[in-house]
Amino acid sequence: MKITNLIILTVATSFAAVTGARAEGTLPPASDKTGVTYATDIKPIFDTSCVKCHSGDKAKARLHMDTLEGVLKGTKQGKIVVAGDSANSFMVKSIAHLTGDSDAWMPPVHNKAGIKALTPEQIGLIRAWIDRGAK
Ligand code: HEC
Repeated sequence: MKITNLIILTVATSFAAVTGARAEGTLPPASDKTGVTYATDIKPIFDTSCVKCHSGDKAKARLHMDTLEGVLKGTKQGKIVVAGDSANSFMVKSIAHLTGDSDAWMPPVHNKAGIKALTPEQIGLIRAWIDRGAK
């Protein structure tokens, strides 16, 4: 690696560390916690980080994150969860900032409600839940 590249990489990494911004391209590992359930582990995350914009008559993208049924139904464009395959679930790409289009990073990076990006631990729990069947 050229020294200039190394400097750029170092600066970019420290910037991400300081701002807490998640660089594109990292998929946190699925949690190994046993007995992960929608009701106890997952719904609270969605309630805190998604439901404000994804519920009711004006649900963004017509995605209803307040019920399991709504989550599994997906957006006006289709499903966002592939049961058994979290790495290929659009929702996971969206919360892990892995979609090429940053407009699809959820919650939106600079939302007025001040709702923060999910932590790697939260993404890991969602991954475990999806990998084990999204029930
Ligand atoms: C502050 C409001 C807000 C929050 C909070 C929020 N979203 Fe969104 N979401 C939006 C908006 C706005 C859109 C774009 C709607 C459109 O294009 O019609 C969107 C679109 C989406 C889409 C479709 C994106 C696409 O390109 O097809 C998904 C999936 C999604 N959100 C998932 C989530 C999840 C999961 C959470 C919680 C982790 C969440 N959102 C939190 C506002 C929000």
